[in-house]
Amino acid sequence: MEETGRLQGKVALITGASRGIGRALALAFAREGAQLSLWGRSMRGLNSVVREIGKKRSTRQGVTDAPKLWRRSAGSRDILPLSVDVSKERNVNRGVERVLNHFQKVDILVNNAGFAAFKSVLETPVEDWDRMMAVNLRGAFLSTKAVLPSMLKRRKGDIVLMASIAGREGFPEWSGYCASKFGLVGFAKSLAKEVRRKGVRVITVCPGAVDTSLWKDHPNPPDPREMLKPEEVAETVLNLLTFSQIAVIDEVVITPRKGIL
Ligand SMILES: NC(=O)c1ccc[n+]([C@@H]2O[C@H](COP(=O)([O-])OP(=O)(O)OC[C@H]3O[C@@H](n4cnc5c(N)ncnc54)[C@H](OP(=O)(O)O)[C@@H]3O)[C@@H](O)[C@H]2O)c1
Repeated sequence: MEETGRLQGKVALITGASRGIGRALALAFAREGAQLSLWGRSMRGLNSVVREIGKKRSTRQGVTDAPKLWRRSAGSRDILPLSVDVSKERNVNRGVERVLNHFQKVDILVNNAGFAAFKSVLETPVEDWDRMMAVNLRGAFLSTKAVLPSMLKRRKGDIVLMASIAGREGFPEWSGYCASKFGLVGFAKSLAKEVRRKGVRVITVCPGAVDTSLWKDHPNPPDPREMLKPEEVAETVLNLLTFSQIAVIDEVVITPRKGIL
């Protein structure tokens, strides 16, 4: 994909950026010139995404010893990876404080961090249920609550919520995940109406099955050839954010053409 600088001058905070869809979002946003804060619990995963971005930038600039170049630019002001557990209020508030100190603003917040456990209602451990609510729903609420004041002050900003088709339909063995994503869709719809006239856009993305590690413990995952690629979701988000600064497409469903989900 050619870089066109569609996010030049923008600061984006992406949660769950250490792998999967979040990683693809980070690469696509960086390609388009955004400054980034990448969140996840594992610094290892985040640093590997940062290195990947550095490598791609260097290759683009025709530099072959990319890792060396990246070491030189370590501490670069363009990317701020932070270990933040989105389910923890103090963690999130401190993280946002650091992002605002570093970049002075957040133009785009992508609430992408997520966790799924696929079991029947009877087999779902309470801990799994609580974790899905804590990461998928509470995490998006906490991150939004922490970032929103700075957006409202500037009367400017985009908030993306990574929901799912599981936020629109029920599926057997997905009750906790569906409940968290239905909750997220409800949160997004209310938030959108609260901030619509205050300069903040809210965009909900509902992907079908995407080929990521979210499926690693699923007993019977779809064929990866019949799943979306994380990059397809990332490009969709990018298009939704950049196609117009005036219009809003507030909810998008994206599913694989051939797959069942
Ligand atoms: N894959 C699909 O089929 C699909 C379909 C529709 C929607 N989605 C949604 O898309 C989003 C991304 O999922 P994915 O498929 O890319 O899954 P993934 O590969 O499992 O990645 C999940 C990401 O969330 C982060 N995360 C998990 N718990 C966290 C926490 N407590 N605090 C901060 N970060 C946390 C993980 O990083 P750490 O482990 O380092 O914290 C990781 O970066 C999720 O919201 C998911 O529900 C996925």
